[in-house]
Amino acid sequence: MMSTTAESVVDKRLEEKVALITGGASGIGESTARLFLKHGAKVLIADVQDELGQSLCKELGTPDIISYIHCDVTCETDVQNAVDLAVFRYGKLDIMFNNAGIVGEDELRANASEGDNFRKVLDVNVVGGFFGAKHAARVMVPAQKGCILFTASVASLLCIGVPHAYTTSKHAVVGLAKSLSVELGEYGIRVNCISPHAVATPMLLNWFVTSDKRKVEEIILRNGVLKGTILEAEDIAQAALFLASDEAKYVSGVNLPVDGAYSINNQTWKKGLMEDCIAE
Ligand SMILES: NC(=O)c1ccc[n+]([C@@H]2O[C@H](COP(=O)([O-])OP(=O)(O)OC[C@H]3O[C@@H](n4cnc5c(N)ncnc54)[C@H](O)[C@@H]3O)[C@@H](O)[C@H]2O)c1
Repeated sequence: MMSTTAESVVDKRLEEKVALITGGASGIGESTARLFLKHGAKVLIADVQDELGQSLCKELGTPDIISYIHCDVTCETDVQNAVDLAVFRYGKLDIMFNNAGIVGEDELRANASEGDNFRKVLDVNVVGGFFGAKHAARVMVPAQKGCILFTASVASLLCIGVPHAYTTSKHAVVGLAKSLSVELGEYGIRVNCISPHAVATPMLLNWFVTSDKRKVEEIILRNGVLKGTILEAEDIAQAALFLASDEAKYVSGVNLPVDGAYSINNQTWKKGLMEDCIAE
């Protein structure tokens, strides 16, 4: 049976929209590309993993709806070319998802951390996102509309024992998004962040001692606040879908945690102060 018009509208929440997703060849970016496509968007994936990005596009559709461009987000010309290609190939740019990111070296001690690594993490996670926003704004301002998204992290909200460079970069991304949301609101452009808790993507699997996805998911589940469900890349994609869609037309300047209340929980009170109090 043919679906009704109402159903189609609800089903396809990004019909007629064009999205550019950095870091779209893997993990959260890949899931978002899949979901955006399903919802009617035309998608350009920008990444440095060319083979992966190209094979993903081949799997998902033809170049008139999904394509790939090599783009190192730390190189402004690459980002500029990616935005220009989106406009050239698909006619415009509605959604810029600055998602590419790295953790950098896993040294947790400041006095043993390398300055070059610190710069590199900020370069990819912050400057890369800035280039994305800058060039998106270049084409969105004349259109007087658009949506810019960033993938931040729970590390933008708390200190969770990840390297200083990563925590710094994710706090900076939120600051950048807030600042942009105020400037670009003038032109009808919304800017938001999504802050995921741990998701078993290749990035996290590389960082964990084990690369067994199931084991990692079990560890995350066991240590999460919200029980009975595993956070997956698609859950972050769903948050991106909401923020990119017209349903979020007045949502701007927000850092949306997708963390099952992890970032508002403070077990040190219960485990430390309270237990010590009872023991006294
Ligand atoms: N996985 C998690 O637990 C988690 C939690 C919070 C936030 N995040 C954030 O989510 C985003 C996506 O990460 P993921 O978990 O999907 O990891 P991932 O490694 O699967 O994907 C990251 C993608 O970014 C690309 N990338 C890296 N450097 C790049 C560069 N210079 N230019 C262009 N692309 C580049 C990689 O090639 C990769 O395809 C990152 O910003 C990350 O910090 C991840």
